[in-house]
Amino acid sequence: MARLTVNGQQHNVDVDPNTPLLWVLREQVGLTGTKYGCGIAQCGACTVHVDGVATRSCSAPVSTVEGKQITTIEGLAQNGVLHKVQKAWIEHDVPQCGYCQCGMIMAVAALLKDKPKPTDADIDAGITNICRCGTFQQVRAAIHAAASA
Ligand code: FES
Ligand code: FES
Repeated sequence: MARLTVNGQQHNVDVDPNTPLLWVLREQVGLTGTKYGCGIAQCGACTVHVDGVATRSCSAPVSTVEGKQITTIEGLAQNGVLHKVQKAWIEHDVPQCGYCQCGMIMAVAALLKDKPKPTDADIDAGITNICRCGTFQQVRAAIHAAASA
């Protein structure tokens, strides 16, 4: 049994403590915005926030996140108002197939919390998510737009 706080709500889930958070979010909690890409902490499709820190949920055993605040893409907007990263994403028409984008947005939201005005070098160092559609230029433009919003 694990006791999780996801997007401000408590969930008691009956899982092995070694189960990756990603699968608990998708299969027990029912939040499928967080995606599976590689399963080995390389692609970032599964990125969520754990106590505000971007975390690759495919490689985080659920036992390590009990008692922490977990935020998924479904919890990023507040009171029906999109996060500034989500707004910039729409304005810059960033997604193509969309598969990587929830993780990308969560990684960017965490980056901007730490570095409100990131340089291109900050972006290169901080956003290592992989997009197989090659949206990297749009991602960079939208990050700069969100940073000046
Ligand atoms: S699925 Fe987690 S980093 Fe790729
Ligand atoms: S938008 Fe298709 S993988 Fe990134």
